[in-house]
Amino acid sequence: MIKVRDLKKRYGSLEVLKGLTLDIFDDETLVILGRSGTGKSVLLRQILGLEQPDSGYVEIDGVNISSLRPSKRVQYTKQMGMLFQGAALFDSMDVGDNTAFYLNQHEPRLAVSEVKDRVALALKMVGLENTEKKMPSDLSGGMRKRAGLARLIVYRPHILLYDEPTTGLDPITSMQINDLINQIKHELKATSIVITHDMKSAMEVGDRLAFQNNGIIEEIAPKKEFVKIQNPTLQSFFKNAVLTKQELGA
Ligand SMILES: Nc1ncnc2c1ncn2[C@@H]1O[C@H](COP(=O)(O)OP(=O)(O)O)[C@@H](O)[C@H]1O
Ligand SMILES: [Mg+2]
Repeated sequence: MIKVRDLKKRYGSLEVLKGLTLDIFDDETLVILGRSGTGKSVLLRQILGLEQPDSGYVEIDGVNISSLRPSKRVQYTKQMGMLFQGAALFDSMDVGDNTAFYLNQHEPRLAVSEVKDRVALALKMVGLENTEKKMPSDLSGGMRKRAGLARLIVYRPHILLYDEPTTGLDPITSMQINDLINQIKHELKATSIVITHDMKSAMEVGDRLAFQNNGIIEEIAPKKEFVKIQNPTLQSFFKNAVLTKQELGA
């Protein structure tokens, strides 16, 4: 379980996180919704241990990672994978080397043949078998996104963080990515946090939904209850999404 407690983070005079508290349960997929600029990416970087908070802390499986030295912190953050907004691949490396990159970093002693097998398996899982020799520039946007996912699942993290995985993708590609997020969760038995603007995507992947606003988590609930919350800012997310009757619990 991941515990975020009273997390505060400012950049100069801009107070971004204002005492944010949040629990993420083992094996769940928690979706975080919120307008741009509310600090969702900042929160993910905190959970990943990439930045230090001004105060408050992040605890992973009982260990306060915010107070650890960077060298110690890596032990805990190694079990996490983050699909960054944009999910850039290294343009000068082929898909196979891109996919092997973090695996080689995390497990430098693996045999070359083992790396090759695991890369092939990861690529197969995201529907990109036999693309090892292709360059990122040969791939469509959706394929690049999937290669970015292969690069994470290849080292089998058990906490996955997705920063706007479907933003900028067409509806069909978005649906494929949502399906993959669900599939990965089951195969890796992973705990996932998904940041999105896309209500449809939130309903497809989320067990619980949270709403981040003004530097805190303003609302959080299982998805069936979440869609009934009377919060004016939140209502605008629902209005822009076409949800089925089943999703609305009607
Ligand atoms: N490293 C940084 N230095 C200065 N300002 C930052 C930094 N990272 C984020 N911010 C600011 O914090 C706010 C929240 O950013 P972000 O977490 O990216 O928002 P979003 O919710 O859209 O992901 C923005 O105003 C952004 O400009
Ligand atoms: Mg962001």
